[in-house]
Amino acid sequence: MTARHFLDVSELSRGELNEVVQLAESNSPTKALSEKSVALVFEKPSARTRSSTEVAVFKLGGHPVYIRAEEVGLDSRESVEDVARTLGCYYDVICARVVEHETLVRIAAALDSMDAQVPVVNLLSDLSHPCQALADLLTMRDLLAPLNRSESSLTGRTVSYVGDANNVCRSLVQVALAAGMDVRVASPEGYGLSEEVISSVSTEDLPGSLEVFSDPTLAVRGADVVYTDVWTSMGQEDEAEERTAVFKAFSVDEKLMQAAGEDAYFMHCLPAHRGDEVSAGVIDGPQSAVWRQAAKRETAMVALLSWLKRERR
Ligand code: CP
Ligand code: NVA
Repeated sequence: MTARHFLDVSELSRGELNEVVQLAESNSPTKALSEKSVALVFEKPSARTRSSTEVAVFKLGGHPVYIRAEEVGLDSRESVEDVARTLGCYYDVICARVVEHETLVRIAAALDSMDAQVPVVNLLSDLSHPCQALADLLTMRDLLAPLNRSESSLTGRTVSYVGDANNVCRSLVQVALAAGMDVRVASPEGYGLSEEVISSVSTEDLPGSLEVFSDPTLAVRGADVVYTDVWTSMGQEDEAEERTAVFKAFSVDEKLMQAAGEDAYFMHCLPAHRGDEVSAGVIDGPQSAVWRQAAKRETAMVALLSWLKRERR
């Protein structure tokens, strides 16, 4: 049997996702990474993901090592596969933030081919940001149902994502549907969820519902959570000017939050650009939950790493 990897939310069954959530909410101290080391390979910058993962590894009794991608030279100094096999000689878990999702798939395949039993964790790729989504799920449970720790505590609640249907959006949709939420996604034409994503989540038989919108005001009406992310993701900087024009009507400002209602929370994975995808008044205002969300990144990583490294029958 090969190690369990976490490259995408879809790799966890609903039961397994709930196990990670329960571990996160149990607050029981564990030294699941005692005497173990974890590699953190980054092809892109990070404030939250690197720090929350390093601190999580430390709290689990392990030793994190940050490795800049330039240093190991993925596919330039040597092949991705040889870097993976090399790291597999020293590390018990390999976490990586990559430009192309395929790089993660190749790292996992190379480790599996030598039966390394080393889990690979996606710290953001062009396709998904599953560790962010775990933290988002924990945050929504705390915000919307703090006294209900059951698997179905978010059933029937609504999260509306406004903006670019990117990596963060895709992973959010997956966890929210698994939690039984009604998910709405509002994007400009050409920047919405792909047919592939829509059909893959529909075939997974998840309990929530998904609806796509072109009008952000309609999408947020009565929502419990309004979520947005940057209009230009890392690596898309050349498109920034064009995207700023296209997304103008999708800014989450006070007027849009009013359409959602005064009880709605605002969430954003961060980094944020005040005046673009969110107004300063919203992100720094009373409806904003972004710092609770950022704090949950560490909780989520502690739970995920413990789950990946625990003994399996
Ligand atoms: N939300 C998030 O992943 O932030 P960083 O890019 O700073 O890690
Ligand atoms: N969509 C953003 C998320 C950053 C955490 C990006 O990929 O740059």
